[in-house]
Amino acid sequence: MTLSDYRTAVVTGASSGIGAATVEALRGRGLEVYAVARRADRLAALAERTGCVARVLDVRDTDALTVMLGSLEADVLVNNAGLGRAARTLADATTEDVDRILSTNVVAAVHAARAVLPGMRDRGRGHVVNVGSMAGLYPLASSVYGASKGALHVLSMDLRLELAGTGVRITEICPGRVRTEFYDVAVDDPELRARLKESGVDEVTAGDVADAIVYAVDAPWRVNVNRIELQPTEQTYGGMQFTPREER
Ligand SMILES: NC(=O)c1ccc[n+]([C@@H]2O[C@H](COP(=O)([O-])OP(=O)(O)OC[C@H]3O[C@@H](n4cnc5c(N)ncnc54)[C@H](OP(=O)(O)O)[C@@H]3O)[C@@H](O)[C@H]2O)c1
Repeated sequence: MTLSDYRTAVVTGASSGIGAATVEALRGRGLEVYAVARRADRLAALAERTGCVARVLDVRDTDALTVMLGSLEADVLVNNAGLGRAARTLADATTEDVDRILSTNVVAAVHAARAVLPGMRDRGRGHVVNVGSMAGLYPLASSVYGASKGALHVLSMDLRLELAGTGVRITEICPGRVRTEFYDVAVDDPELRARLKESGVDEVTAGDVADAIVYAVDAPWRVNVNRIELQPTEQTYGGMQFTPREER
């Protein structure tokens, strides 16, 4: 099973960044692509440019999401809609930030998969791509975001077990720093945002991530690409930190 066996794809979070680049890449490979996000103007421009079908909705609206996905025979679902609130540790987070991250990054992705999987299973073909993060695999002082992406990591592994023998494939994509609008959403303070946005390294592009998604979806039927981690060559993770206790 390769891209040529798939006809219809749905990409959530398609109005910018990785999602928009993925829509473009899948359209370039001839699929009918449904592009989902809230910003209607962005989706209209994307539809004009690529020929995708715009679906303006908030993925946290479970009923709307389920009805939309139920009206299609999606062969490919790219669960990409997501956000972080990078400046806040859990101790400092607001209720709204926590709910927004978890409901968008995890709950909506689970409901989207739930909506498409019965059809994929019945047709004996399909591919769910979960856009996780390096933050779901390695420790980062951004616990709510990390937990949301860690949940997608376990979801992806467990779905592979649940769907064994059905022909449905599950891929997790784990990017490090990608140059997108992510930090415009994540950080309210303009000075901090500017500082965080300027990594000073040659960052992965949204197109690079879209290429990884196409690679996974286009792999021969015998190959399930379980997980792809991609980060800037000039980025790393881990290391040893010693932080003296603060005086009170
Ligand atoms: N950039 C990075 O460094 C990085 C690294 C690792 C993982 N990721 C992950 O990659 C994915 C895409 O992010 P990005 O970097 O491409 O950032 P982005 O440019 O900010 O894109 C985020 C997309 O998600 C959509 N979205 C957010 N909330 C939504 C909602 N409630 N309903 C529908 N759509 C919603 C946004 O569209 P609307 O605002 O129009 O709804 C937008 O299209 C996210 O899951 C993110 O966690 C990013």
